[in-house]
Amino acid sequence: MTICISFISQKGGVGKSTLARGLAREANNQELTVKVADLDTQQGTIVNWHRRRLDLNYKPIGSVESFKTAEQALQNISHYDLLIIDGPARASKATLDIARQSDIVIQPTGASMDDLEPAILLFHELFKAGIPKSKLFFALSRIGTDSELDACKTYLIQTGYGVLAGCLFEKPSYRQAQNLGLSITETSYQSLNKKADELIQSIVDAIKSE
Ligand SMILES: Nc1ncnc2c1ncn2[C@@H]1O[C@H](COP(=O)(O)OP(=O)(O)O)[C@@H](O)[C@H]1O
Ligand SMILES: [Mg+2]
Repeated sequence: MTICISFISQKGGVGKSTLARGLAREANNQELTVKVADLDTQQGTIVNWHRRRLDLNYKPIGSVESFKTAEQALQNISHYDLLIIDGPARASKATLDIARQSDIVIQPTGASMDDLEPAILLFHELFKAGIPKSKLFFALSRIGTDSELDACKTYLIQTGYGVLAGCLFEKPSYRQAQNLGLSITETSYQSLNKKADELIQSIVDAIKSE
């Protein structure tokens, strides 16, 4: 059975495409068959990134395609283990539709109240619209320090939604890697790759418990 994981958020620039690429790369490395659906048709972030990756002769991360809707992305996916949906830049009417079609919904969020509050409100809206809390996970993204991470976790756990283990620290090397078609687990620094992989593995664990 194909498991569908989506990355959505209330705000743009929080790390949806970054985490979607990282997950695709790690899942592909663990011999899962992966399809990535880029639903951000205006920016086509993942499609463009994958083109850069292939141009530089790095290993493909699976099949990458652009779609307008989650329903279109779900056509003919039975021979894939994993469908990864990279959602539109910010929340829209399509977000609920994406969440309904997904087994796991991940919302990356930064550490500031300006990021956390709208992120929590979006999950409240999805929950009110019938998406079970057990499907909804926050991923802490663009974090500055360990103490910032701890404070965010403590705050988010009280909401009753899932909070993935680990986080993605804000590091120029993650940006640089992605500029070259690489993922956040493929930077030049083993320690950064390991940190990113902890977060990705917590997504893989959530998939395995499906
Ligand atoms: N942890 C991070 N450290 C540094 N730069 C990051 C990090 N996460 C994302 N970025 C950069 O921030 C920008 C927005 O990230 P992206 O994943 O495209 O966000 P979204 O898909 O949610 O709009 C990209 O240029 C990306 O390379
Ligand atoms: Mg994006």
